[in-house]
Amino acid sequence: MINKKLQDAINTQINKELYSEYLYLSMRAWFAQQSLDGFANWMDIQAQEEHAHAMKFFNYVIERGGKIELEAIEKPAHDFESPIKAFQITLEHEGYVTSSINGLMDIAISENDHAARSFLQWYVDEQVEEEANADKILSQLKMIGDRIEGVLMMDRELAQRVFVPITPAK
Ligand code: FEO
Repeated sequence: MINKKLQDAINTQINKELYSEYLYLSMRAWFAQQSLDGFANWMDIQAQEEHAHAMKFFNYVIERGGKIELEAIEKPAHDFESPIKAFQITLEHEGYVTSSINGLMDIAISENDHAARSFLQWYVDEQVEEEANADKILSQLKMIGDRIEGVLMMDRELAQRVFVPITPAK
């Protein structure tokens, strides 16, 4: 049985993951409006990943005999100014999610919940990748600057990203 403190914190985290899905869906729409379909594809995959992160938590709470309480999802921004700005927001947001995941791990450690620690380690590792991915694209966009041919080349590269399903729980 999951302890109530951790259960409540994971319910809050589910909301953050679903908000992340919303944010990246909003970015997906913005990039599509700029005719940058490869960037839009990258954001589409990112949104699908966030949904999978939320569902992995969702299934875990149920598996450990806990209670799910879904909250309203905040409205995301819808105008991102430039690809660089969108990826600055993405990197900043992933940093926020990382600290939130670390907070869950702190609770699991203080509550001596070894099963939760094992479960949460997947998210700790995933966040390293999430931040690295956004950071790499942001760095490349900064190198490209205003050169449209560089942005279009990146657009073709980001069109290659595909969704890789994750294990639903554990
Ligand atoms: Fe669910 Fe992008 O972290």
